[in-house]
Amino acid sequence: MIAARILIVEDDRIVARDIQHQLSRMGHVVVGMSANGEEAVRLAGSHRPDLVLMDIRLEGEMDGIEAARRIRDSQRIPVVFLTAYANDEVVQRASLTEPFGYLLKPFEEPQMRTVIQMALYKHASDARLRMSERRYAATLASIRDGVILCDPQGRVDFMNRVAETMTGWTAMEAAGQPLATVFVAVDEETHESLEDFSALVLRSGAFAPPDRLSRLLPRGEPASAGIVVEERCSAIIDDRGELVGSILVFSDLTQRRQIAEALRKAQADLAHIGRLTMMGELAAAVAHEVNQPLMAIVTNAGTCLQHLSQPHPDPGKTRVVVERIVRDAQRAGDVVRSIHALARRTPADPGWVDMSALVADTLALVRAELRRARVVVETDLQAGSPWVHGDRVQLQQLVLNLVMNAVEAMADPELPERRLRIVTAGEEGWIRVRVEDSGVGIADADVDAIFRALYTTKPDGLGMGLSIGRSIVELHGGRLTATPGTPCGSVFEFVLPVSAGGV
Ligand SMILES: Nc1ncnc2c1ncn2[C@@H]1O[C@H](COP(=O)(O)OP(=O)(O)OP(=O)(O)O)[C@@H](O)[C@H]1O
Ligand SMILES: [Mg+2]
Repeated sequence: MIAARILIVEDDRIVARDIQHQLSRMGHVVVGMSANGEEAVRLAGSHRPDLVLMDIRLEGEMDGIEAARRIRDSQRIPVVFLTAYANDEVVQRASLTEPFGYLLKPFEEPQMRTVIQMALYKHASDARLRMSERRYAATLASIRDGVILCDPQGRVDFMNRVAETMTGWTAMEAAGQPLATVFVAVDEETHESLEDFSALVLRSGAFAPPDRLSRLLPRGEPASAGIVVEERCSAIIDDRGELVGSILVFSDLTQRRQIAEALRKAQADLAHIGRLTMMGELAAAVAHEVNQPLMAIVTNAGTCLQHLSQPHPDPGKTRVVVERIVRDAQRAGDVVRSIHALARRTPADPGWVDMSALVADTLALVRAELRRARVVVETDLQAGSPWVHGDRVQLQQLVLNLVMNAVEAMADPELPERRLRIVTAGEEGWIRVRVEDSGVGIADADVDAIFRALYTTKPDGLGMGLSIGRSIVELHGGRLTATPGTPCGSVFEFVLPVSAGGV
């Protein structure tokens, strides 16, 4: 049993007391008693009872029916009428106030108990229903889709705010109109009229057709305009399995399409930027690698001109210098080809390479530069070390870049010594090449940054040497690292996988 707080409105004081005792026995609490309509309305407002037992005939101007109407309108408190006479006219007037029950006087306690319980249950279930309706209204108001409910004849019953905005109709104007008048759908491409989607559902009963794409024409818009929408429609079926209406839900695809288009464009832009960056890096790489042979060509061509300007030029000497020019020009061509291959991430011309011999050859290429920079070169090159299968030109560029960086790190005239040491050592399955210098060294924080393309601390540096070097090593399946040297300078070291036995 539900225990309730009850207000008694009864002009017969003896009856009122009697009811009060009965209610207390049932476990209810009587929060107030009145014999007069106006006072009853006031007490209902101040005590907010769960139920009012209301006599129809009362003292004063206002009868019980009028008092019940006011209480219902302002508070939604359930009212049970108590009456000694129930002619049709009175019952009809009382019914308009939607009472929760009648008790015909004189009544017995069990009767009263039943009517009160029924009234309290009904009120609780009405409150639950109202709550669920509020939830449902709040949901419909906050979703981004348009929602239109239709009756079984396909006329509009309800539409949410989004549906109002998209169709150009207010819910009030649309109420009772055929759906096809309010929701005008045409074919997305051909602009031909489409059948009202809910009519299809109503005709076919519980069957829900698959979603469809259409163009919704808001009120007063020409057939060429409209919003592209996705429509979904289902039937509403009652407890007895009968069709009581349909619900049409539609979402605006314009925004979704705009987002998809923006995403596609952003991806294309990104790919374009990626290509530009790659081309920029490629151009920088070509400039970087060709610079060294070009400088050598210019120097040798100068020497050659000097020889030729002698009264009796020595053809033998001149020939040697011209041969060097030819060699450097060929090397520049090879370098360009190898960079192109590097950009495509394939070794240009794979073959068997003896790393110790390659280091010696590379040092020979820059002997003049090393002498000019007053660098003392030490080598510890393991003879007969295992051979690497790879691109000779690329591997030579790698060693050359490390040597040139070492020379540049020791450019400071204040340095007490300029020592470059290169070691090759074969290990189980690997060959290790170390390039050590006694230069300015690398700050711990920069150890990763120096390998990034275009990172440089030199006024005329391109910042490409190490990035190209790392690409070359990785393409050959190896690793290139930098560590601080002892007591000063830096150590660059790479390992490459080797093929047992060489060629
Ligand atoms: N042996 C080294 N000792 C000290 N710092 C070094 C050494 N090698 C490289 N670095 C640092 O790493 C940076 C990047 O080297 P990287 O070879 O990639 O470019 P760069 O030498 O500056 O220019 P370039 O593209 O002309 O070679 C250098 O600017 C320098 O700061
Ligand atoms: Mg460099």
